[in-house]
This record gives sequence, structure tokens and C-alpha cells, in this order.
Amino acid sequence: MTYCDEVHAVGMYGPRGGGIAEREAAMTRIDVIEGTLAKAFGCLGGYIAASTMVIDAVRSYASGFIFTTALPPAICAAATAAIRHLKASNWERERHQDRVAQTKSALSAAGLPVMPTETHIIPLLVGCADKCKAASDRLLAKHGIYIQPINFPTVPRGTERLRITPTPYHKDMHIDDLVRALIEVWEELGLERGTSDRSRTKAPRARSLRLLHARETLEPRRNRTSSATPTKAVVAEKRASGSG
Ligand SMILES: Cc1ncc(COP(=O)(O)O)c(C=O)c1O
Repeated sequence: MTYCDEVHAVGMYGPRGGGIAEREAAMTRIDVIEGTLAKAFGCLGGYIAASTMVIDAVRSYASGFIFTTALPPAICAAATAAIRHLKASNWERERHQDRVAQTKSALSAAGLPVMPTETHIIPLLVGCADKCKAASDRLLAKHGIYIQPINFPTVPRGTERLRITPTPYHKDMHIDDLVRALIEVWEELGLERGTSDRSRTKAPRARSLRLLHARETLEPRRNRTSSATPTKAVVAEKRASGSG
């Protein structure tokens, strides 16, 4: 059975916002697709889509489903409206990708350490938990920009990062402000600069960023667990650095 967690993709990928499986025309090959109403659809709650039999089994046996309060009607109405809208409108998806590309390129041009990623979540490497929290705090206190620090156990120690998620409604002006603020924070905290381009010219660093990239593509799944098995790439990285 194939279970695909598409919470970071529903609404955002695929011609009707069905997610990556829809974009890849692979929906019929997936048995269960998990989606959230809380990210692209801007509400709360979530769902799984599967055959009648699977759904019936979950309804009958999943205690987490049976012993929980149903979503309020207002949330259901808002989620329905959002889903209907994003099934028909491509503007948000196209604009989202455009804003992500613009943000990545502005950050890289400023020499900020953007970690390579194919997704719309842009990681900026800090590499130290305390500094990552300090950078997030300073961004909010001094610049009015809230970006969460992503530390262990969500990511391996030494790869702490800020994770930037542009939306379709971020204008060039907002991206420019963000870059200016980040440069100030990077300078104030003495954080390491270096674009992914520069890192490609340095063998050890390039290698580590490539391995981090492998991790990053798998990482959203890890948000919820602290005991996830490390990927082969990360294990290889740890062995190479002698840390495990
Ligand atoms: C991969 C993944 N699945 C599921 C969830 C849970 O989504 P929700 O917060 O809507 O319950 C998250 C939350 O970020 C996630 O990253």
C-alpha cells in the first residue's frame, strides 16, 4: 500500500491543486493521499483520500478519528470555498512559484547561504541552534519579520536553519525588505555568508550542502517526530564528519 503525505503540496501543485501526485499524473497509483486544510487552504484540519473500503476501515477503527470533535461548520465552509477556488484558479500556484524563485535568487545574490532545494520552502543555513533562535528573535524584534528557527530534532544538529515560505502575495518590495533585514542580522550575529554557488566551488562544503539537500527534500515529514531514522545521506554525512 502506498501512503503519500501531501500536506505541503495540496493546493500548491498539480493543475487543480491535487498535489505532487496530480502533477505527476500518479494519483491512481497512490492508495492513500493525506492532505491538510491548514496550509494552502488557510483553515484547519485535514483529510485522507482513499478508496471507500480504506476510508470505511479508518472510520471504524481509528481511535484518533472516533474520539475527536468534528470541525466547526464555519471552518468546513471556509475550507470548501478555498478548495473550490484553488481547483479552478492557477494564478496563486503560478504566482507562488514566481515569488519563490524571486526570493531564492535575491537571497543568493546577497550572498546569503540558501540551501539547495526544489521546493517552495527556502532554507537558510545558520548551523547553530542558539544563533538560529537569536536570528529569528532579531528579525522579529528589529525588523518585524517572523521566520521560525528550525533546530534539532526537526533537523540534524549543525544544520540549524531559518525556513522561509514566500506566499503568492509577497511583492518584490517585501522580498527586498527581507533580504536587507537578513543581511543586517547576519552581520550583527557574525553568521557565515556564502551562496550555494560559492559552496559548489568548495568541495567539502558543496558535499555537505548536497547531502543536506537530500535531507531537505525528505524533511517536512520529520516535523512531527524526534525519533525519525536518519536518511542514508545523513548517516553518510555523520560518518564522514566523525560524529556518529
Ligand atoms: C509532513 C506533514 N504532515 C502533516 C502535518 C500536519 O498538518 P496539520 O498541522 O494540518 O495537522 C505537517 C505539519 O506541518 C507536516 O509537515
